[in-house]
Order: sequence, then structure tokens, then C-alpha cells
Amino acid sequence: MKSRAAVLFEAPGKWEIVEVDVDEPKEYEVLVKYTAAGLCHSDDHVAKGDVPSAHYPYCGGHEGAGVVQAVGSKVRDLEPGDHVVASFIPGCGRCRWCGEGKQNLCDNGAFMMLGTQLDGTFRLHHGGQDVAQCSLVSTFSEYSIMPEWGAVKIDKSIPLESAALVGCGVPTGWGSAVNAGQVRPGQVVIVMGVGGIGINAVQGAKHAGAVRVIAVDPAPFKRESALKLGATDVASNMTEATDLAQSLTNGQGADCVIVTVGVATGEHVGQAFAATRKDGTVVLTAVANIDENVIPVNLFEFAMYQKRIQGALFGMSSPSRDIPYFLNMYQQGQLKLDELVTRRYKLEDINQGYEDMHAGSNLRGVIDYS
Ligand SMILES: NC(=O)c1ccc[n+]([C@@H]2O[C@H](COP(=O)([O-])OP(=O)(O)OC[C@H]3O[C@@H](n4cnc5c(N)ncnc54)[C@H](O)[C@@H]3O)[C@@H](O)[C@H]2O)c1
Ligand SMILES: [Zn+2]
Ligand SMILES: [Zn+2]
Repeated sequence: MKSRAAVLFEAPGKWEIVEVDVDEPKEYEVLVKYTAAGLCHSDDHVAKGDVPSAHYPYCGGHEGAGVVQAVGSKVRDLEPGDHVVASFIPGCGRCRWCGEGKQNLCDNGAFMMLGTQLDGTFRLHHGGQDVAQCSLVSTFSEYSIMPEWGAVKIDKSIPLESAALVGCGVPTGWGSAVNAGQVRPGQVVIVMGVGGIGINAVQGAKHAGAVRVIAVDPAPFKRESALKLGATDVASNMTEATDLAQSLTNGQGADCVIVTVGVATGEHVGQAFAATRKDGTVVLTAVANIDENVIPVNLFEFAMYQKRIQGALFGMSSPSRDIPYFLNMYQQGQLKLDELVTRRYKLEDINQGYEDMHAGSNLRGVIDYS
């Protein structure tokens, strides 16, 4: 079948809207029609060339939700009409990491940048060329194929646009505070960068009982939004935030600093490290250019102050457990999703959506396929 899709023919490059041919789902795959797709900064990393795809053309998008249209012959738990959230790491349930309950680290994660499905072949095509799929799901194609394990079934009463956000931004941000940062009641937390990820780190830190959540962003709109969604304080730069955290902790510094800027650098992590107290944790969630190798931290301070620098993929969340769990929190009024969507775009306007993200005027922009 045919589908509209936003595709990169090269990187750095702009998204081009083309018609792609979508194959039938193979044995363990499903065909999904997306209703909504979130504009995460990670897709922009591929467009800017910070992070390369193994294959071009490349159809982006890893945050989305929609309706199952058809299932492969061996799919057992899904049927046409089911509502699903796309998970960009389809946990296999059998590898060491899945066995440890760390589905976010499943060995299937190797496919995130390869562009094929799990059998090593492509499902999208354009003008006789194979088109790579982002993270096995490509939510920037209205119709797309994904592995059955990548399609997390959800309650049909939940609006699909809100559900889309629990495909990446919510678990990644919330889990950066709650799982990776181990935020505890009474703590002082700094969130560095308030985009679709950082705003959910703010929500997670607040929910975990942080007594002060300091949201840092140079964009005024982001600071205003953070105050509405759980931040107690805001700052426009890390110097201000560090001074505030130290003044609140008798000079010690923040218990946890979560780095969720758009493009991470070693300098950002160094600033976060300097803002963290003894035995505190820096969480690095933001993605850097693939060649960024150096973090300027003082090694004496690192050891003697017993600090931690903790990476976090998908907020250390497990998609098949945590996607329903987040949606339950949303239904119970404990997690805000609707407030995270600042603007809706047609697929044709995706480049405008990313310009708005860079201008600091969107918490999350969303492609509305309807
Ligand atoms: N680790 C993961 O699993 C994972 C998953 C998804 C996204 N990410 C990454 O998380 C990062 C954030 O994604 P997003 O979609 O929220 O991006 P975004 O562009 O929407 O938000 C980033 C925010 O950081 C702010 N910022 C930039 N420089 C700053 C600085 N020096 N200090 C404070 N704030 C600063 C920007 O103004 C912006 O508001 C990206 O690098 C993305 O690739 C990681
Ligand atoms: Zn993302
Ligand atoms: Zn696995």
C-alpha cells in the first residue's frame, strides 16, 4: 500500500514529504495507521547529522500512537482495530537484559539505527529504493510496519495523541528522575533543558517528592511552562541554578542534576557535575554528536566526592510495563499529557515543527494525521 512519509535523502538534510510503498506485515509484524507522532529532538539529530543512520533514504519518527490495520500470520496478541503506542525498543523477552527487567536495553536496540525490521529486510520503499525505518517504527509515515513487540496495546478510551507521548518523551524524562536519578522525598533537583523530555523529568522529580525542582532553560516559554507542571524554581542558565541549589543545601549542591538539553556536550555534563553535591548523581539523557568524547570533570573531585554520572536510555523504563503504567497515571490525574502538546502540524509542515522546537516555542510539537 501507499503512505505519505517524511523522509531524509541525506544528512544533514530537510524532511521531504514523499509517497512510500509499505509492504504487508511479515509473520511477527503489524501494520499500523498512526494518528499522532511526536517531534522529538532525537529525530532532528539524524536530520542534522549529529547521529547517522546506517541507510538513506530514512523515514524518521519514534514517538507515536495509532490503530492496528493488519497483523502477520503468527501475531497472537494483537488484532486489527487495537490501539497501540509504538515502542522504539521492542523487548524480545529472552535476552539477558529483558531477563533482568531492563527491557530498554534489549539487544533488539541494535536495530534502532539500522533501518530494517528484525529479519534484516526493509518494509518501506520509494522509487525502487529501500527506505530505512527509524527504530523499527517510523512514526513519520502515516502507515508503518513494526514488530509485534513494538506495538504496546492500550485502552481505547485514551486519546491517541496523548498516548503518543508515552512512546518516548514521558518515560524518558520521568524515568531519568525516578529511575536513573533515584530522586527521593526532600531532595533538590535540577533539570537542565525543558523540552519534551525535560518537562517530564520535572513531572517525575516532583512526583518522587523532590522539595525543590529547579528547571533551567534559556527560553522564557519553557520556564513558564515548567512552573505550571511541577517546577518550584526556574533559571535561565546553570550558574544561576547552581547558586540557588547551593543556597538551599548549605553549600552542598543539588542531589541530582538531569541533563536534557537538545544537543549534549561534555561542557553541559561538566556544568551538571559542578552543580551536584557529594554522593550526588548527574543523569545524562540528552544525546550528543556521535563524536563527542570528552567530559571535563575533575577526577579528584569525582572520586573524593563520590559522585555518579549515570547514562539513561528511555529513562531506564521497560516499555511493556511502563507504557500502560504511565497511561494509568494519566487516567488517575497524576501525570499531565494533554498540557505537553503545544502545537499540532500536518505532516507537510514537519520542518516548521522542528524550526519551532529550535526557537524554544514548543514543549512538544505533534504531527496530527487526521
Ligand atoms: N536517552 C534517551 O533515551 C533519549 C530519548 C529521547 C530523547 N533524548 C534526547 O534528549 C534531549 C532532549 O530532547 P527534547 O526532545 O526534549 O529536545 P528539545 O529541543 O525539545 O528541548 C531541549 C531544551 O533544552 C534547552 N537548552 C538548550 N541548551 C541549554 C542549556 N545550555 N541549558 C539549559 N537548557 C538548554 C532548549 O532551550 C530546549 O528547551 C535530546 O538530546 C534528545 O535526543 C534522549
Ligand atoms: Zn525521543
Ligand atoms: Zn531482549
